[in-house]
Amino acid sequence: MMKTNNTRRAWQDRLQPRDVWVNAYTIVLAISLPLEQMAYHADYQHPLLFIIRWIGYLLLGADVLFRCRGGEYRKPNGAVWLTIDTLAALPLGPLFMQLAPEAPGWTLVIAHLLPLLRVPRLMHFLRAWQQLRPSQTGIRRIASTVLLIALMIHAVGCWQIAVFDQERAGHSVALRYVQAVYWAVATMTTIGYGDVTPDLQQPVELVYTMFIMVLGAAAFGFIIGNIATIMANLDFARNQHLDRMQRINSFLHHHEIPETLRGRMHDYFGYLWQTRRGFNESDILSELPAPIRNEVEYHLRSDIVGKVPLFKGAQEPMVRALVARLTPRVAIPDELIVRRGEIGESMFFIANGTVDVLGTDGQTVATLTDGSFFGEISLLERGPRTANVRAASYCDLYTLEKSALDDVAAEFPEFGAHIRDMAEQRLGRKSATV
Ligand code: CMP
Repeated sequence: MMKTNNTRRAWQDRLQPRDVWVNAYTIVLAISLPLEQMAYHADYQHPLLFIIRWIGYLLLGADVLFRCRGGEYRKPNGAVWLTIDTLAALPLGPLFMQLAPEAPGWTLVIAHLLPLLRVPRLMHFLRAWQQLRPSQTGIRRIASTVLLIALMIHAVGCWQIAVFDQERAGHSVALRYVQAVYWAVATMTTIGYGDVTPDLQQPVELVYTMFIMVLGAAAFGFIIGNIATIMANLDFARNQHLDRMQRINSFLHHHEIPETLRGRMHDYFGYLWQTRRGFNESDILSELPAPIRNEVEYHLRSDIVGKVPLFKGAQEPMVRALVARLTPRVAIPDELIVRRGEIGESMFFIANGTVDVLGTDGQTVATLTDGSFFGEISLLERGPRTANVRAASYCDLYTLEKSALDDVAAEFPEFGAHIRDMAEQRLGRKSATV
């Protein structure tokens, strides 16, 4: 929880509200500038496109000033960014048209498209936006990728109208736009039905088509690979689990393990998946620094804290001291967790599940469930285990080592007294159910 908040704070520092506006406007420009090119060649003028362009110059210019004042261009690579941002913000296209109307058409086009130099900044912004909520990174990556593909297809389509000969000049602008986008998708995905083709006598059309084919092959390969990775990572835990099950199955098959044993293994991994999503808690905790680890452990073990009557009314320092020393362990049905006569090394708390305490004749003398503990007598008496304890179902247990029990009992005598009390009750009344 703390980690998520810190990450979010770090990214929020980088994502100022001004960035949101400027980047949203970059998207508007990435739509309107290619449209303007298309409109120019389709003899269709719309004042809105002109207004959008001029608002863009003002907004991008103001952004450069803010960045200058904030000292952003003094950072490494600042001069490069200053040049790019300034080129994007200056109204070079309109100026160029006034000052050098005779210049070749392509130079005017480039001058008009200079605000698109802000697109790399937009991509950088989208990356920061993806990190803002780590839990939504996958969804946000997909949304960003889809947005970039859509902008690319739109631009390629618009320029197709500008580059190709105007054989469909009689059609409405909307129809020509849809036809051009259709051509862009077919060419970029290298489907190319051949129904819209470049004029073989027009080198510019041929070169443009070839360029878009190559660009499309590279971009779509990259994008589809990217989306496949995102999808695979969306449910990383499930994919890892399925992967592990596949490896286990081929292992079982290779060694011709009997069917019943296979069934038990599947049950066991199924249980781990249901209760832990296949994660190994200890591995994850071991990577954390102590203060965060303690908080996470306390949070993870809140189930046992809520269930064990001994913990419920206890002071927090005692519960924390104990929780930090518990180690999770799973017992499978019929497993003999504690064997009579052995020297005990640890005691057990039951988070979920049922165990039977068996008498010398094998009869169940007590059944213990969620919140109970067992295995304390031999630790306190420093003698052998007094009974067999067998799991009656899958059990989520927490073990407490003898030395840890001694430490906590020395620090919090009421804890030691309670455990001793229970041990004495059990020793006196062997048939009691706790
Ligand atoms: P220990 O002797 O270390 O190992 C066996 C455990 O079974 C024992 O500790 C107790 O925790 C538990 N146990 C023994 N007798 C009973 C009983 N009558 N009722 C409940 N639990 C018992």
